[in-house]
Amino acid sequence: MSDAVLNQFTPQKKEKQIDTSKKLKFGIIGTGWIAESHVESLMKMPDVIIAAGADIIPGKAKEFFSRYGLNDVRCYESHTELLEKEELDAVCICTYNKTHAQCAIDALNAGVHVLLEKPMCVTTEEALAIIEAEKASNCLLSIGFQPRMDKNMQMIKKIVDSGELGKIYYIQTGGGRRRGIPNSTFIEEKTAGIGALGDIGCYSLDMVLNAIGYPKPLTVSGYKSAYFGTNPKYNNPEDAARFDVDDFAAAFIRLEGDIVLDFRIAWAMHIDTPGDTIILGTEGALRIPSTECWNGSIGGPLKIYKDVAGKQVEFEIPPEAEPGDGWGLFDMKLRSFADAIKENLEPPVPSSQILYNQAILDAIVRSAKLGHEVEVNLP
Ligand SMILES: NC(=O)c1ccc[n+]([C@@H]2O[C@H](COP(=O)([O-])OP(=O)(O)OC[C@H]3O[C@@H](n4cnc5c(N)ncnc54)[C@H](O)[C@@H]3O)[C@@H](O)[C@H]2O)c1
Repeated sequence: MSDAVLNQFTPQKKEKQIDTSKKLKFGIIGTGWIAESHVESLMKMPDVIIAAGADIIPGKAKEFFSRYGLNDVRCYESHTELLEKEELDAVCICTYNKTHAQCAIDALNAGVHVLLEKPMCVTTEEALAIIEAEKASNCLLSIGFQPRMDKNMQMIKKIVDSGELGKIYYIQTGGGRRRGIPNSTFIEEKTAGIGALGDIGCYSLDMVLNAIGYPKPLTVSGYKSAYFGTNPKYNNPEDAARFDVDDFAAAFIRLEGDIVLDFRIAWAMHIDTPGDTIILGTEGALRIPSTECWNGSIGGPLKIYKDVAGKQVEFEIPPEAEPGDGWGLFDMKLRSFADAIKENLEPPVPSSQILYNQAILDAIVRSAKLGHEVEVNLP
């Protein structure tokens, strides 16, 4: 039998054509570690010009772009100067968490589309101020959660949406590392604002909240600690001395729709994982295996538990492969943002959803400080 005959049963993959007649002018605000991934993804896109960049550390932006041979990129030492002097279509905000809100608000006020790195910001008040600027601007704002591009993550939502699990009433999520405390700007309140909560906690919340349609959080009883980050036995002594954020957090969260969420996250602890993510419904349950190095990824096949014809059965969902062709989740995050600008689409990861994610992180911090449950009051 010829290939032509056999191939009629194989769906032909249609490559999406990129329209290069309109090029988008991008700026990068903050040229540290994650900006590298942004630039590498943007450089793969034939309809994007990386026009300008800014970093508050003198000379850092220039040196950053020259590493990529991008010597024509105009560089500034403040994001405000970049926004004043450049006519950009979009910016990627790659600064540390504490300056996310100011940079995003200023960019939106300047009429520029914004891809804002995760976590959205540090507090609920900041998130609300960003959303106010977004509404007044007519610009697109998307938050940088690249696991949303993962087909396995998308499958979690498809399973919940299919109704196979029935009504969802309990979720256990989170994850963490036995030892994996970052350094640089991640470990100080003055730059990061929050620690493991903002670095990896926001991912695990997004995984389950997106799956169940982001119900409104109602109350949170939270706990946080820093027994490992501050201890020179477990952290480099210089980093331990300046460490003043959380390295572990846990919370019991009530959500609208009579759903409870049991959450925990760790940069360091004396166990390999605090458990898999599980979603319990009235008709079935889903297990999402945890990975040892939690960063928004899945540690194995998704497993569904149900009763079928009176028998308790379990089955696995075959995992989807990575996109391949050198085109990863980060590239898809940038591509989907550019496509949304060009085609006037909804933001790939909208602020209206991530507001609830941020409000939970913020409520965990508040509750941990007060030592009791707090209400989440959102307009
Ligand atoms: N999506 C992901 O996979 C991922 C991975 C790592 C980090 N991040 C996020 O990216 C952000 C940055 O992380 P990083 O590791 O690159 O940090 P970093 O400290 O390496 O880089 C941040 C840079 O921003 C600069 N900066 C701060 N305020 C500024 C301002 N107002 N204008 C211009 N520059 C400013 C700093 O000088 C620094 O060079 C964090 O919010 C982090 O959570 C996301």
